[in-house]
This record gives sequence, C-alpha cells and structure tokens, in this order.
Amino acid sequence: MDVPAAPSPPRWHRALVTGASSGIGEAMVRRLAADGVHVVLVARDKARLDALAGELTGAHPGVEVEVLAADLADAVALGTVEARLADVDSPVDLVVNNAGFGTYGQFADLDIDVEQREVAVNVTAVVRLTHAALGGMLARGHGAVLNVSSVAGLQATPGNATYGATKAFVASFGEAVSGELAGTGVTLTTVLPGFTRTEFQERAGIAGRQIPGPAWMSADDVAAQSLDAARAGKPWLVPGILNKALVVVAGPVPRSLKRRVAAKASKRM
Ligand SMILES: NC(=O)c1ccc[n+]([C@@H]2O[C@H](COP(=O)([O-])OP(=O)(O)OC[C@H]3O[C@@H](n4cnc5c(N)ncnc54)[C@H](OP(=O)(O)O)[C@@H]3O)[C@@H](O)[C@H]2O)c1
Repeated sequence: MDVPAAPSPPRWHRALVTGASSGIGEAMVRRLAADGVHVVLVARDKARLDALAGELTGAHPGVEVEVLAADLADAVALGTVEARLADVDSPVDLVVNNAGFGTYGQFADLDIDVEQREVAVNVTAVVRLTHAALGGMLARGHGAVLNVSSVAGLQATPGNATYGATKAFVASFGEAVSGELAGTGVTLTTVLPGFTRTEFQERAGIAGRQIPGPAWMSADDVAAQSLDAARAGKPWLVPGILNKALVVVAGPVPRSLKRRVAAKASKRM
C-alpha cells in the first residue's frame, strides 16, 4: 500500500531579511539562497551587502538578490523598506525582522540618543515592517514573519535595561499578533536566542568572556532552527537545548532573584 507523502513544508518564493550583513541575519540569507529562495538584503553597510549579494549570485545563479541599504533607525529609510514590502509586483512571502543591537551600562549613564536609536531599530522598525508585511500576506492568504527577540526579553535586565525591554516588547508583540493570525494562512514566529557567536557583543562593547563555551550557539545553528520554526508556522522558539532548559528552570524563580542575578551577570560581561 502506498504511504501518503507527508505534506511538504511551505516554500517561500522571496524573503526580506533585516540585519543581513552579519551574524544571524547573514546566516539566514545564506540558507535561504541555498534553498533557492530569492532574497532582499537590508542593513546599513551597503559595501558588505553588495559583497554578499555577489557571492550569493555566483553560488546560486537562479537566485535573485536585491540589496536595500537602509538605516532602520531613520524614518525615511525605514519607509523605503516598508514601500518594498508593499510592492505587489514582486511580493515578499517571508519577512525576517532580525536587525538589532544592544547597549550595556547603567541606563542613567548611557547616551540617550543611542538608547532612542536602539528602541527605533529593535522595536519601531519591527512593528512597522511587520505591519507592512502583513497587508500583502493576508490579502494573498500566505506568508510568514519571523521576528528575532532574545532570552533577555524574558526578564528585566539591569545593566542592559533598554535592550532587555526592547526584546520583551518583540516577544509580547509577536506572541499576540501570532494569535490574531490563526487560520489566515499567515504566521508569525518569534525566536528568542541565547548567547550566539556574532558581532553583537563586540558592537555592544562587551567581551562576553565570562560566558562558558557550551552556552554559545553558532549563528548558523540559530538561523537553521529559526527558519525551521517559521516553516512549521510555530509561534515561539527558544533555539538550543541548553537555552530551552534554562528558560524552563528560570520560570518559577522569583523576579527579585532573577533581577539580582541578571545585574551581577551584566557586570561580568
Ligand atoms: N548574538 C547574540 O548573542 C544574540 C542573542 C539574542 C538575540 N540576538 C539578536 O539577534 C539579532 C541579530 O544580531 P546578531 O547577533 O546577528 O548581531 P550582529 O552580528 O551585530 O548583526 C546585527 C545586524 O543588524 C544590523 N543593524 C544594526 N543596526 C542597524 C540599523 N540601524 N539599521 C539597519 N540594520 C542594522 C547590522 O548591519 P549594519 O551594521 O550593516 O547596519 C547587522 O547586520 C539582533 O536582533 C539581536 O538583538 C543576538
């Protein structure tokens, strides 16, 4: 007797990935292009995006690669990315809101303009691009949004207060919108990575040397697990066994204790 074939996972035609010039976003783009998905690369560093586009086009000749250099903290530049998502002639059926950065230190001592940019990139851009993506996806009854939060969003993070709060927003927002999308053919997946080897720590001015080796994941592992979760339409993913276990163990810990542990940990970064 013939065994019926398992339903094939949804295959995207074109993906837009923010923060594609480095780390998790770059790893996602490499995987998507290898799967034959056309990609739109968004980040500020145009030279780096152009180099990646050249490499991907060479390696995957059938794949269309667009470069859209934009500073997502800038409302006008963000508008160009929103306009790209509204282009009905070249629809995007996977949007990955991955661009983001963190700041470390006592909030009162940090540069308020940088903190405001952090909110703009990590929160405002995610909200606006999710909204811009959903319009066309819901009309077509097909598509996926993949938003990158962090395990730092699951609790208050003294020592990087704004960062943790932006990621808490992304987690709560994504979980709620994902609930609204049930039955539409469109999904929203929120991914909450733990420590991942990328340029994130260096850009944030921290060494991360105190973090034990096994706690780190590679950008490629996070990218692979995140794309699998989005393909399966899962609302929520903490990548990695260790991160999953830590989240479960930390669940019942009182907030006051979590706060103290987080404050100590951030001082040792
Ligand atoms: N690495 C970790 O341990 C970790 C853990 C949990 C969550 N995350 C999250 O994972 C996501 C990706 O970070 P990553 O670890 O891959 O770090 P990364 O290597 O530093 O990559 C960050 C990406 O965001 C882009 N970006 C930053 N500011 C931008 C802006 N104003 N406009 C447009 N693009 C901007 C950067 O490109 P340009 O500089 O070219 O603009 C870069 O492509 C972030 O949302 C981060 O919060 C990371």
